[in-house]
Amino acid sequence: MDKNVISIRIMDEKCETCSCLLERRTLLKAALGMVLGLPFIDPALAQPTSPAAAPPEEGDQFVFAFGDKKGEIITPKDLPLGGPQVMAYPMDPKTKVVKDGSRLNKIIIIHLDPIELSEETRAHSVEGIVAYSAICTHQGCDVTEWKSKEKVFLCPCHESEFDPKNGAQVVHGPASRRLAALPLKLVEGVLVAAGGFIGSIGPRRSY
Ligand code: FES
Repeated sequence: MDKNVISIRIMDEKCETCSCLLERRTLLKAALGMVLGLPFIDPALAQPTSPAAAPPEEGDQFVFAFGDKKGEIITPKDLPLGGPQVMAYPMDPKTKVVKDGSRLNKIIIIHLDPIELSEETRAHSVEGIVAYSAICTHQGCDVTEWKSKEKVFLCPCHESEFDPKNGAQVVHGPASRRLAALPLKLVEGVLVAAGGFIGSIGPRRSY
């Protein structure tokens, strides 16, 4: 792994094949997926069954998914210019329900120089801040790492790379499809979703 790769969280398990770090649950699903030759998004998670599993929608705020600030609202000041990304879940601002009932709701948010963003990406951004689904379109791992020199997201499972400056397009496979985008806006200084996901989540459309 390159020295400029930044891992954004401590994981539970270590992958024996590529030395990447995976959540225990993700590791088990990856193993099952390898045996069956299938992507490991759980279909049961694809159908929202509770408010906590509902997909992000316009007006949702964002909270830290992990770490010391888990559950706290993310503000632009929490996002260092130039990365790395922050892992987040959406939160309904009225009910305060954090939508962590589906891993398909995991979001990565990053603050980049607005000048670097493509026109399409800038349209979904606010003040250089962009958000994407954290679920890799290859086999569904969390896209947890950041290559600071190349300024691309890195999936630790099979090293797919996605360019957040250009709509999270794939710049290095095996993934063949970009990450879904989540448009953003600021409301009274608070970062919120400007709509739902644009594009398919993970290896296949999930909702
Ligand atoms: S799951 Fe294979 S590169 Fe992300």
